[in-house]
Amino acid sequence: MDESKMLIIGANGQLGIALREKYPTAKSTNTTQLDIINKDSVDNFDWGGIEVILNAAAYTNVDGAETTEGRLTAWKVNAVGVQNLVKVAIKNDITLVHVSSEYVFDGRQNPHTEDEPLSPLGVYGHTKAAGDLLVQLLPKHYLIRTSWVIGEGKNFVRTMLSLGEKGTEPNVVNDQIGRLTFTSELVRGIDHLLSNHVSYDTYNLTNEGNPVSWADITREIFKSANYDLKVTNTTTAEYFANKEGVAPRPLNSTLSLDKIHKTGFTSSDWRDDLKNYIEKEKNA
Ligand SMILES: NC(=O)c1ccc[n+]([C@@H]2O[C@H](COP(=O)([O-])OP(=O)(O)OC[C@H]3O[C@@H](n4cnc5c(N)ncnc54)[C@H](OP(=O)(O)O)[C@@H]3O)[C@@H](O)[C@H]2O)c1
Repeated sequence: MDESKMLIIGANGQLGIALREKYPTAKSTNTTQLDIINKDSVDNFDWGGIEVILNAAAYTNVDGAETTEGRLTAWKVNAVGVQNLVKVAIKNDITLVHVSSEYVFDGRQNPHTEDEPLSPLGVYGHTKAAGDLLVQLLPKHYLIRTSWVIGEGKNFVRTMLSLGEKGTEPNVVNDQIGRLTFTSELVRGIDHLLSNHVSYDTYNLTNEGNPVSWADITREIFKSANYDLKVTNTTTAEYFANKEGVAPRPLNSTLSLDKIHKTGFTSSDWRDDLKNYIEKEKNA
């Protein structure tokens, strides 16, 4: 894949940073350089020579999307912004790599397959589902659904490490089940699809390893970081009781990886990547 013909949008997000590391000579843009919700910004951008858009831009604040302002922004970025990119991709015969979420499902099916009917619970999920439907209209698309993303930025592992550093013993939900996805694996999977010219389609892509709860992940984090702290299980309902503006969450976030396996891609176990991630964080 010729990196100079790639454009990474949302370059400063967790995924955007990892994509820039993988493709250092690719073009990349932040919101100031290319605001996907602004039609003029998209239309006036120089698309000449671009063959692949890697869209890492999104509104990812799941609870923020439940507020009046957040709902508006989430729809703009995750649906209208994606519509703008789809139009540009059609016009310029560009391949669009777009990333979505297991939040497009209600969490009842286990694991979620790529062909499961959409059933989002909250506003973020609705907007991501709208984006998915738009991307799937494009002949040349890779729609990649992932879950529980960990990279450079604000994320669950960093939050728990900082609690651990302070000696806090947290209550963590043990009824949401899934797998972490390290951005390094997400990028490796994207590169696999592109480099091997795998059929354009929708693919699930997360780390491998047995699915567990956020509470169990916290125990792994504390073990790897050598924090001798207790993690108490709680339920999602208990944790969010009396809190306002909390988005409903799918209880099962596990994505089936059978389809991407058949293309010849196997990702690493989330536990191995978690250990490496924590080692780097502690040495940073
Ligand atoms: N994080 C997760 O746990 C998770 C789970 C499942 C799926 N996903 C999906 O994975 C993808 C990557 O997530 P992430 O964690 O890397 O997200 P992230 O860290 O929140 O980054 C999102 C990026 O999008 C940019 N952006 C927002 N509005 C924009 C606009 N109007 N025009 C251009 N760029 C804009 C942001 O730029 P600013 O900094 O300027 O706002 C930010 O750099 C997203 O599609 C997300 O839905 C994430």
